[in-house]
Amino acid sequence: MLVRPTKALLLCPLLLLAGSCAPKIVYSDADVPKMAELDDVMWAQAQVMDPQFKKIGRATYTDEDYAAFIAAGARLKLTTARAKETFSKGPEFNAFADQLAANAGELADAATAKDAVKSSAALASAKATCKACHAKFK
Ligand code: HEC
Repeated sequence: MLVRPTKALLLCPLLLLAGSCAPKIVYSDADVPKMAELDDVMWAQAQVMDPQFKKIGRATYTDEDYAAFIAAGARLKLTTARAKETFSKGPEFNAFADQLAANAGELADAATAKDAVKSSAALASAKATCKACHAKFK
């Protein structure tokens, strides 16, 4: 049985954007609706989004990239729903979760259309939403 990352990894959130700290578990979509802690939900979305955030601003993407964007969009729909349903901190928190879900929809649509400009913009919007919610609630 795998064990979730512990508080021993306190520096992880700071290092995560640099890509230098990754949790040990790789979560699947099916894990998300059962998660017992918001931290786990956050890791589940960080795992799929951090590699995509590194691709912001590229002029072109491969079919593999687009497939990853669509998968990441689907993951965010699950994580944002779970965050609201079980770990809500009130209306403003829910609004950030809704915003991230909307960003996820934009990302999936742009990737389905293989639109590089819109895909990059949706990734940047999602990243901004992560930061905005963290600034207020983390
Ligand atoms: C709706 C608000 C909200 C949004 C949107 C949000 N987060 Fe979080 N995030 C939080 C809160 C609150 C915490 C602190 C959770 C805790 O310590 O219990 C957190 C913590 C984290 C952590 C640290 C987890 C840990 O184990 O300490 C990571 C990583 C993370 N978020 C990644 C992301 C990423 C990536 C995104 C965007 C794709 C995102 N978050 C969007 C609210 C949000």
